[in-house]
Parts: sequence; C-alpha cells; structure tokens
Amino acid sequence: MIISDQDIQLFISTIKKFSDYDFSDYSEKSFKRRLAKILSDDKSNINSLISAILKNKEFLEKVVKDITVNTTELFRDPETWHILRYQILPRYKNNNAINIWHAGCSTGQEVYSMLILLNEIGLFDKTNIYATDLNVDVLETAKKGVYKYLFNIGYLDNFDKVIKENPFNYESYNDVPYSKYFGIDKSKDTIKMKSFLLQKPVYKKHDLVRDDNIFSIKFDLILCRNVIIYFNYNLQNKVFNLFYNSLYTKGCLVLGMHETILGQNASKFEKKGQAYFKKEFLSF
Ligand SMILES: C[S@@+](CC[C@H](N)C(=O)[O-])C[C@H]1O[C@@H](n2cnc3c(N)ncnc32)[C@H](O)[C@@H]1O
Repeated sequence: MIISDQDIQLFISTIKKFSDYDFSDYSEKSFKRRLAKILSDDKSNINSLISAILKNKEFLEKVVKDITVNTTELFRDPETWHILRYQILPRYKNNNAINIWHAGCSTGQEVYSMLILLNEIGLFDKTNIYATDLNVDVLETAKKGVYKYLFNIGYLDNFDKVIKENPFNYESYNDVPYSKYFGIDKSKDTIKMKSFLLQKPVYKKHDLVRDDNIFSIKFDLILCRNVIIYFNYNLQNKVFNLFYNSLYTKGCLVLGMHETILGQNASKFEKKGQAYFKKEFLSF
C-alpha cells in the first residue's frame, strides 16, 4: 500500500485535533509502516479511516493503540540485564530507597524482569517501581502479569542467562527455580507472575510527548528501552530533557540496544554502553 506524505500529515493532524495524542514528532518511516499495516488489515484507505476516526472516539483510541509497537519480552536483551545486575544496580545498594521508572513499559515484562532481578540481589524491599505507557490496554495486561507460555517460551532462556548464569564467571550457577517467580501452566498455555511481584509497581498512563514527570519524585534509574527509536530527533531531545530533570545526579538512564543520545543532550550524561549517567556538574 502506498501512503503519501500528505496522507500521513492528514492522519496526524486529524488525531491531534480530535484527541490528546500528537504523533507529529514520531519517526516518519516506522509511522508510515504502521499506518500501512492498519490500512491493509482493515482493507481500508486513508479517507475512510479518517472518517471512521471522526465518527467514533473508541475507534480513534483503537487506531492509536494499533499505531504504536508493543513488542517486548522478559529479560529482553540479556546483555543489558547483565549490565544492570553487575554494574548499575550495585551503585545504589547503600541508598535508603531506590526509585526506578520504566517509561514505555508496554505489557510489563521489563517491569517483572526488574522485580525478579531486584529480589535476587536483595534490593527488592527498598525499591519503588513506577511504570508508564501511553496505551492503557498494555498497562492492564502488565497489572495482571499473565502471558502466553508457548509464544513466549524464549523467556525461560533469557531468565536462565540473567538469573542462573553469570557471564563473568561461567563456573558459577544459581539454580533458581522458575516457580519462585512465576507459575507455568502448560494446559492453559500461561506464565503467571507471583502475587508478591504484582503488588509492587505503580502503573500510570503517561505520554512522553506531552506529559512532565507525573510522579513528582526523582529517580535513581530510568529505563526507556525501544521507545525513542519511534521518535524523531526533536522529540528524542525533549524526552532526554525530561529524563535528565527527573534523575538524581549520578542517576542512570538505560536505553535500548539500538538507541543513543545524540546532540545537545549527550554532554549532560556520561555514556557507558546503553547506560547514561547524569553528570554531577555541567560545564556550561
Ligand atoms: C516496543 S515497546 C517497548 C517495551 C519495553 N520498554 C521493551 O523494551 O521491551 C514501546 C512502548 O512505548 C509506548 N509508547 C509509544 N509512544 C509513547 C509515548 N508517547 N509515551 C509513552 N509511551 C509510548 C508504546 O505504547 C509501547 O508500549
């Protein structure tokens, strides 16, 4: 399906006019791909999609949810979790409390990965977890903590790599049973997180385009992984400013494997791989 730049602009301006959502600063390439998918799934064209959006507020909400990508997994990119386990989280072990924000948490697997890791390294009780997303449906799934087993069988492999194995010492192995953190019911095809994990996080709707720090606290750690990849340079910078202002000095922002801070904000952080530490003193 061919979608013109004009079609995209019309779509974005309609959504902006009739809702609180603003996709003007999303990266054009992936936005175009998503819009093409919606049109082909609905066997529709841009004009009929727009008139349906104008007639029905619920349909508008559905389209907004369809346009964003929610792919995620437990311990996604285990290398990042190794860095969190051995290099980032230990920095905060003497804090009285540790505040963590998962921005763009999708269906919650990243949040459960963090909770499991915190429990393994003895930091669970002193940590406060806040998790946000634009899409309220994914937040509802996150709160329930129930996932398809067969579809997500790779989760167990990731769990083993991060929780059982030690990449810095191949001889060390912690035989942590899955049942400590989730139940697997093969007949129901489910993985269900344990209730002590469900109770900990505070989930809230938050739009990185327009909302400020809604929690009115500072954070030691912010994870925003595989979210800004969908934003253009302007919006990325705006979001980096928000995170900068929301972190304690020496607090850490963790981005996705293919994301990086470029431009004016780069000098405000000390980069260590995908981890960006807020600098103590700025020289400008
Ligand atoms: C690909 S998922 C990433 C999930 C998880 N962080 C991970 O890395 O596995 C991207 C998430 O960003 C959310 N998102 C997109 N635009 C957003 C916005 N403006 N504000 C907050 N969340 C947004 C989407 O709803 C989606 O759940």
